[in-house]
Amino acid sequence: MSPRAIRPKAAAPIESTAAPTELATTPVESAGPIESTMPIELAEAAGPATAERAGRPNVRFRVSRWNKRLKKAHFDDFDVEVEPGGTVLDALLEIRRRQDPSLVVRHSCMHASCGTCGVRVNDREVLACDAKLADLPAGRPIKVQPLANQRLVADLATDMVDFYARFEPAGMPPVRAAEVGAEIEPPEAVRTFMRFENCIECGLCLSACPVARTNRDYIGPAALAAAARVVDEPRGQELGPVLALAAEPDSVWRCHDAMECTAVCPSAVDPAMAILTLRRHIAADRVRGLLRHGA
Ligand code: SF4
Ligand code: FES
Repeated sequence: MSPRAIRPKAAAPIESTAAPTELATTPVESAGPIESTMPIELAEAAGPATAERAGRPNVRFRVSRWNKRLKKAHFDDFDVEVEPGGTVLDALLEIRRRQDPSLVVRHSCMHASCGTCGVRVNDREVLACDAKLADLPAGRPIKVQPLANQRLVADLATDMVDFYARFEPAGMPPVRAAEVGAEIEPPEAVRTFMRFENCIECGLCLSACPVARTNRDYIGPAALAAAARVVDEPRGQELGPVLALAAEPDSVWRCHDAMECTAVCPSAVDPAMAILTLRRHIAADRVRGLLRHGA
């Protein structure tokens, strides 16, 4: 995929003076329908190279930018020729390559494995490298913003250090999904554990979480999914501290069951279910404690 820039960018400032992490939820007006480029018949008459360009739709991207000096965000518009099979990340990299090299976009693997390219596209958390342009509504700008509920570093990049640090008290360092033997059908019991093991630490769930939006102390869905994973398969680990963490005020009982974390998770971790599982474990632990106390 090699989208081509066809027009210089036009700034589209937004009014908000909110802090960076709040900007992710700032609504933006639509800029209206997108103009088409040269008709395909004319382009074919002009030669194969032009016909190839005309086959690509011209799409406007409305990208959030962070002005470090003013400590304020605004949107810049970029018009990009894209291929139907392309992704949002393809388009962002094309913008950086041909229109604005200062655009900050984070990515690594380009195939939905490393979890570094998380952004919000049209107000929904996605991996930019996995967000196909063909799946987005045609005829209006594609809005791209950084993840919410995390400290903004620049444009579309957030500071993940705080997010990663949440895994440690949960008793589990970040664990990557195993790709070797992915086609092998695991036994049912193993499948339970694999679901939580698959977390790619992308932070989409934390960004989508309505509780994290208002409570910065909430440990968050990914860390709680990790804690549930440890409780389900302790491997000799002492579970007392993990369950104690899960039982704290800003932990599992703070969750409102909005299920947004599970809805946006690109790796089928199902953090919402993990939180319910932890609640059951905590309740069972308390009952056991009461029985011991009464005995
Ligand atoms: S639980 Fe899912 S959405 Fe959350 S960090 Fe892990 S992979 Fe990403
Ligand atoms: S670049 Fe690795 S998940 Fe998107």
